[in-house]
Amino acid sequence: MTSLSGVRSHRKTSRPLSPGDMDYIEPKTKSNLMGKLVLLASLIILTFIVINKASSFTSPSVFSRREEGVTHVLVTGGAGYIGSHAALRLLKDNYRVTIVDNLSRGNLGAVKVLQRLFPQTGRLQFIYADLGDPAAVEKIFSENAFDAVMHFAAVAYVGESTLYPLKYYHNITSNTLGVLEAMTRHKVKKLIYSSTCATYGEPEKMPITEDTPQVPINPYGKAKKMAEDMILDFSKNSDMAVMILRYFNVIGSDPGGRLGEAPRPELREQGRISGACFDAARGFIPGLQVRNNMWFHYA
Ligand SMILES: NC(=O)c1ccc[n+]([C@@H]2O[C@H](COP(=O)([O-])OP(=O)(O)OC[C@H]3O[C@@H](n4cnc5c(N)ncnc54)[C@H](O)[C@@H]3O)[C@@H](O)[C@H]2O)c1
Repeated sequence: MTSLSGVRSHRKTSRPLSPGDMDYIEPKTKSNLMGKLVLLASLIILTFIVINKASSFTSPSVFSRREEGVTHVLVTGGAGYIGSHAALRLLKDNYRVTIVDNLSRGNLGAVKVLQRLFPQTGRLQFIYADLGDPAAVEKIFSENAFDAVMHFAAVAYVGESTLYPLKYYHNITSNTLGVLEAMTRHKVKKLIYSSTCATYGEPEKMPITEDTPQVPINPYGKAKKMAEDMILDFSKNSDMAVMILRYFNVIGSDPGGRLGEAPRPELREQGRISGACFDAARGFIPGLQVRNNMWFHYA
């Protein structure tokens, strides 16, 4: 707005008025009128949106109250690969599900698939929010009655974590602390945390078991290990039941073909074996070699 009015006053002073200006006055008046109409239409639409929002705030959502026999699970990162499959399974098993995701990595298409499969009121809601925003997290927990949290949301690429370690400590460690604190404030007593085998580092003895010492060697693994430690330390003196999943390279998809992993092309170089397999299968790279069960590279 400021720059527009600035242009107008500039034209007024820099060009003296002459009879020839009549040619300009007519279209300018028309365009002014058009401008006003567009502004009016925008204001009307905006008013409708605000009224709509206001009414949805006042009517209490079914997700905000506890219901006998219904378990309401918050699935963070539910638009992502593993989170969307977990949400599908929960919904199939009659859980009530809230997905929170900032879509930084995930796929809105996965949420839409779930919404199409479970359109009934009170089954699934999607909240677009960033877990790094404490006000958003507080609002989510205060407006919803969760019984449990499955925390999948994370950036999760080893290679990327070495380039941007702070991003990983913030997104994984700090955001997990925020979720844990919000759960405590709102008395949510069950947490399943999605950690990773990267917390084991390079163990001296194979195979890895739950007794293998956790000595992570990259920021991704370290950030997850710190998040695990916080959760375990907290659970020792609280009545929160916690479970930690440390899985290896997850691969595969919903047998019905409705969901799957959709890695972003820009993360191709960041070292997930699943992405490399897809690239080889689709002919983007000539092939893939796996050596000693650990190393892989393009043939
Ligand atoms: N895929 C694997 O092989 C594997 C292996 C071990 C552990 N994990 C862990 O499992 C979890 C899920 O992994 P994935 O493969 O499904 O990854 P993914 O990238 O497909 O899903 C992660 C989701 O979290 C969301 N997200 C990220 N930061 C967020 C934030 N600040 N606020 C809200 N949403 C945010 C992303 O948008 C994405 O939808 C991660 O915690 C990852 O560390 C994955």
